[in-house]
Amino acid sequence: MKIIGTGRSHPSLVVTNEMLTHILDTSDEWITSRTGIKERRVISSENLEDLAIDAAKKALADANMDAKDLDYIICANVVNEFVSPAMSCIIQGAIGATCPCFDLNGACVGFIYALEIAESFYRSGKYKNILIVCAEEPSRMVNWHDRTASVLFGDGAGAVVLTEGDNIKATKMSASCNWDRLYQKHELQYSPYNSKPNSNLPLVMHGQDVFMFATKAAIRDISNVLKQSGIKPDEVDHFLIHQANLRIIKSIKDFLRQPEEKFPLNIHRYGNTSSASVPILLDEVNKEGKLKRGDLIVLSAFGAGFVSGACILEW
Ligand code: COA
Repeated sequence: MKIIGTGRSHPSLVVTNEMLTHILDTSDEWITSRTGIKERRVISSENLEDLAIDAAKKALADANMDAKDLDYIICANVVNEFVSPAMSCIIQGAIGATCPCFDLNGACVGFIYALEIAESFYRSGKYKNILIVCAEEPSRMVNWHDRTASVLFGDGAGAVVLTEGDNIKATKMSASCNWDRLYQKHELQYSPYNSKPNSNLPLVMHGQDVFMFATKAAIRDISNVLKQSGIKPDEVDHFLIHQANLRIIKSIKDFLRQPEEKFPLNIHRYGNTSSASVPILLDEVNKEGKLKRGDLIVLSAFGAGFVSGACILEW
């Protein structure tokens, strides 16, 4: 398969590091030096569905495709307003598509999971045009009084349209389940017949463990897809890495011994937007005209689970 259209959508509210110093014991210097984040977009008046639908419509317009021609929609999402139906159903109705759809929760790796699933759909020969939408609102997961986690995230949506092609060169998905290092429980109630206490726990994150996992997993997955495809790091034109922490991205860059220009960044503007991070970055470099036909692109993401994945594709 190949990517023929990209789109993204951001909330209008920009929350700068300086703004966070009014509600948290933190500083622009701490956040910038530890993470690379200067500001993030946070949903205020919009709904997450609005961003997802906007990103989907932009990707379809970029691909010059009518929603009626879609054969499948996959939405990557961790949390949204609805327990049911899946957010992909809301997107499907709003854009005027008639195809089947489902959601997947791959944490920050949702986009790479969706690409690999879409690739296997193509191999089955059953579907031709697939829309992937990644829409995330981590601002509703974190405790805004917890400075260790709340400063890291931002909301947003990214989308791609795929069609038949031979542009995916290799994919690698991994899971090593140490889920208690980064997790959040649902705000659901137990029945009076269940003795467990009801709880409303915000996101729990052991930052240093996540940092170490992310760096190792990304290096391992990227090395794997390079080896599988027989492509050398020097031959890759762009490395699009999950925008979770600038220091993680720099460690990956140093390991691969590749120049900074190959690692586009937007973490300073958006923070970590979970599964939307890589497709948002892809749309930015695409719309900025930085991708040429035939360019080799590595995508890599990691997140809660722990799960991780990488993919190498030709533009
Ligand atoms: N502002 C100011 N100080 C803060 C702070 C903040 N926002 N958050 C934490 N601190 C303090 C800590 O309380 C600690 O203080 P102490 O030394 O007095 O105890 C100090 O800064 C160092 O904290 P530490 O956790 O050791 O910092 P770190 O260098 O590991 O950086 C993270 C913390 C969270 C930025 C880093 O671990 C990280 O990015 N991990 C990966 C997280 C991630 O990417 N999660 C999503 C994965 S998809």
